[in-house]
Amino acid sequence: MSKLSVRDLDVSGKRVLVRVDFNVPTEEREGHLHITDDTRIRESLPTISALRERGAKVILMAHFGRPKGKVNPKYSLRTVADHLHTLINHPVIFSHDVIGVVPEKIISHMHNGDVVLLENVRFHAEEEANDPVFAQALAKLGDVYVNDAFGAAHRAHASTAGIARFAGQSAMGLLMEKELQYLEGELASPAKPFLVILGGSKVSDKIGVIKSLMEKANVFLIGGAMAYTFFRALGIPTGNSRVEADKVDLAHELLALAKEKGVRFLLPVDNLETQEISATATPQPTKINGGVTDGFEAVDIGPETIALYSSEIAKAKTILWNGPVGIFELAPFAKGTRALAEALAANTEAVTIIGGGDSVTAVKQFGLADKMTFISTGGGASLELLEGKTLPGVAALSENA
Ligand code: 3PG
Repeated sequence: MSKLSVRDLDVSGKRVLVRVDFNVPTEEREGHLHITDDTRIRESLPTISALRERGAKVILMAHFGRPKGKVNPKYSLRTVADHLHTLINHPVIFSHDVIGVVPEKIISHMHNGDVVLLENVRFHAEEEANDPVFAQALAKLGDVYVNDAFGAAHRAHASTAGIARFAGQSAMGLLMEKELQYLEGELASPAKPFLVILGGSKVSDKIGVIKSLMEKANVFLIGGAMAYTFFRALGIPTGNSRVEADKVDLAHELLALAKEKGVRFLLPVDNLETQEISATATPQPTKINGGVTDGFEAVDIGPETIALYSSEIAKAKTILWNGPVGIFELAPFAKGTRALAEALAANTEAVTIIGGGDSVTAVKQFGLADKMTFISTGGGASLELLEGKTLPGVAALSENA
């Protein structure tokens, strides 16, 4: 990799400013905020622990939610600081201010191995505006800068990108390195057959990914509501299924592109359809030759598609999955997504990469996360990387001479 890594830095006794992605899902219970999935915090631990062991003073900065540049206690990182304390079994000193005398004073009292977490950087409008004065004030808090916030690396903000100009050295953290290794390195020349599973509700979200991966993939398996925009392009009835009418021409183009490149682009051969979107619905399989029945909505792939897609998965050597193939949040519509997750888990020969977002939630919900080679912590960031875009949070880092 061309960027400097935290491994290359001399950090002993230094103030190391680490941007992490602690934007974790939470829920409020009995007036308290509870973290419902702490994966992103846990995935930051290798970098935090390695820095502490190497004698660094670790200063963490992160965003949480979208407080729109204003102080809002609902978006405070306090709960995260307490949780991190439990995970590392070491006090995490919380700074209520992000920049200025409060954090500067706290940091001046730090010992090697200590950890400070700054309050939500998005309490300052200058963060998202990538304001250079704010970026410089942040940079002043540390001697070196490490970006481990892969999930926020697609944002050109002060703490993710602008800061690098003012920091002596800027390096990737261990999580950032791992994300890039799988989503970029591993997929640069994937072992073939390279199979891509794409689902989710909108074709428009995946256009860039389809176009970019069309250059390398051998097979695409399409599911989720996005499949029905392709159905419409092929003149197959879609009933009440969600179709992006303004993307039908594009769906045509993508199908033609697949043909031209000799890429197999598979659509569901049957679906589950229902008139009722609820946890007690009993969806019925349909055949595509008749399409989706009038008045019904397709909510999952059907049994024949499960069999077909599973056999493709079993033959693949590299598998990338982004987006569920049904409304898996509701048990009656989760069969297809679960079956594909099981097929991935069963193919122990393949490199299996879950490229972020809802498919990650699905794999975790089915208890199959540890059966995958790699699960990304990024949502938008993984998609942009898979589209072949440069992430500002990576581009800003120092080159590895
Ligand atoms: C995410 O949750 O995808 C990242 O933390 C980025 O958050 P954002 O979409 O609010 O910038």
